[in-house]
Amino acid sequence: MNLTYPSSLFSPAFSIALAETWDHLAARLHRKMALAASGTCPEKKQKTFSEIDRRENFSSLQPPASSLQPFSHQAVLAEEVVAFLKPQPGKIFFDGTLGGGGHAELLLQAGARVVACDRDPAALAHAKKKLAAFGDRFVCFESNYAEAPFHLVAMGISQVDGILLDLGVSSHQIDTPERGFSFQKEGPLDMRMGRSGRTAADIVNTADLAELVKIFREYGEEPRALTFATRIIRERHHQSITTTLQLASLLAQGMRPGPRHPATKVFQALRIAVNEEINSLESALPQLADMLASQGRFAVITFHSLEDRIVKRFFKKHAVAEIDNPTWSAPKPNPEQLFHPSLPHSVVADAAELANNRRARSARLRMAEKL
Ligand SMILES: C[S@@+](CC[C@H](N)C(=O)[O-])C[C@H]1O[C@@H](n2cnc3c(N)ncnc32)[C@H](O)[C@@H]1O
Repeated sequence: MNLTYPSSLFSPAFSIALAETWDHLAARLHRKMALAASGTCPEKKQKTFSEIDRRENFSSLQPPASSLQPFSHQAVLAEEVVAFLKPQPGKIFFDGTLGGGGHAELLLQAGARVVACDRDPAALAHAKKKLAAFGDRFVCFESNYAEAPFHLVAMGISQVDGILLDLGVSSHQIDTPERGFSFQKEGPLDMRMGRSGRTAADIVNTADLAELVKIFREYGEEPRALTFATRIIRERHHQSITTTLQLASLLAQGMRPGPRHPATKVFQALRIAVNEEINSLESALPQLADMLASQGRFAVITFHSLEDRIVKRFFKKHAVAEIDNPTWSAPKPNPEQLFHPSLPHSVVADAAELANNRRARSARLRMAEKL
């Protein structure tokens, strides 16, 4: 069920006053419907959530990681990625999200060549050092992975045997307060993975109400999008919003404690908007699939439903052997088929990995094999 706020019916001032009430009602209704559907007792659920909240708050009280500390990122679903990509001597792989180089290192250890990119110069500098021992079997460059095919072709690489995209941010980026990704650590409201583009502060201080609501709804699936956007616009009349904790506390004001900090989804949404993550993914998938050799393997790790849906639909659309239409007398071969029909599937982390790495909780690996 979709509740749409009838903004055009009222004056702007009254709309803003009404917005919080409207969002509040919509959120309550959604919550009630979800509880009714699951048959869960509200009091019990609230208690469990509060317990989790205490645990999460406790973890946020740990000393903040300094940007000077060594690069820390634990590769997720690493065994599954290696088992699927089957690296071996003579094979060449493209890693479009090099990060700390954890996955790349495993591919290199198996004897393969790895060409990699990342938008983040800090990640590249770290990975270059870490993987230097592999000599010329490892090459990396600074780029959005969506523009990588251009660089690969310029390097004389027109085909690869496997591709890995491990989407999102690295733990190192989140743990570095100066990058502005975390709502738990004070820092400038930046959130750029690369060197250029709008910062989160640019968006928060200049976007109009409609754009903020759209970003929070689409990229954060935030049910209180209108409330938060309205608050931000009101706050901007008094002062610019320039730091992570300033934004986080503005969003948390008056919110009931829950399983997550109230700013979680807004921060995710802003990060996705700042880095144009959805555009990059949508434009990269077909280009990268074109660069896969026959029997080449494509692995994508996603961390939220929005990007997972994009990957799932792309793999599915290009894996069906036949397409049908009610006006046709019989199904026809799919002219857009690229992948083996049997393979596209996904896996999530097992209990052992979940116990070891909290980041793996929301990770999903999707896989496809080129015909
Ligand atoms: C989850 S980390 C990758 C971790 C890596 N697989 C490892 O094992 O250490 C994601 C990395 O992808 C980079 N990244 C995200 N989107 C990107 C894009 N569109 N183009 C290039 N790099 C991107 C981020 O800067 C970050 O370093």
